[in-house]
Amino acid sequence: MNIYVINGPNLNMLGIREPDIYGKETYNSLVEKIEKYAESKGVYVTCYQSNHEGDLVDAIQYAYGRFDGIVINPGAYTHTSIAILDAAKAVGIPMVEVHISDVSSREDFRQISYIRSACFATISGKGTDGYLMAIDKIIEKVSE
Ligand code: DQA
Repeated sequence: MNIYVINGPNLNMLGIREPDIYGKETYNSLVEKIEKYAESKGVYVTCYQSNHEGDLVDAIQYAYGRFDGIVINPGAYTHTSIAILDAAKAVGIPMVEVHISDVSSREDFRQISYIRSACFATISGKGTDGYLMAIDKIIEKVSE
């Protein structure tokens, strides 16, 4: 099983960016944690991060025929991007939405998620462990 973990803008700044909200773990250590977890579960994982909306659309399109599931944290594009939603719907790959922070208890503008309607699950407010929970959800779904 091949799982693609896609992170959007500013997630490369983990550890530096608002640590009271997003924690002290860096993006590189998050990638290591995800890779180790995937190995322990016997699945292949590829991590990708971009600050650019079009790159994220390209990454989702690239996943078509190559990945069995996608874990996606589109960052702020969660709340704005119809293009990312359309890409997700176009490829039809089982997808889980992840947010490190609990977006439901934050600003009003974070209450809208475009990507959510293309995802079979959302994990929010569980810190970076949310990515591991999302991998479990993909494994469960794809093995059905
Ligand atoms: C985030 C929440 C978004 O509102 C924010 O723009 C991010 C990160 C999260 O992981 O909690 O960049 O997706």
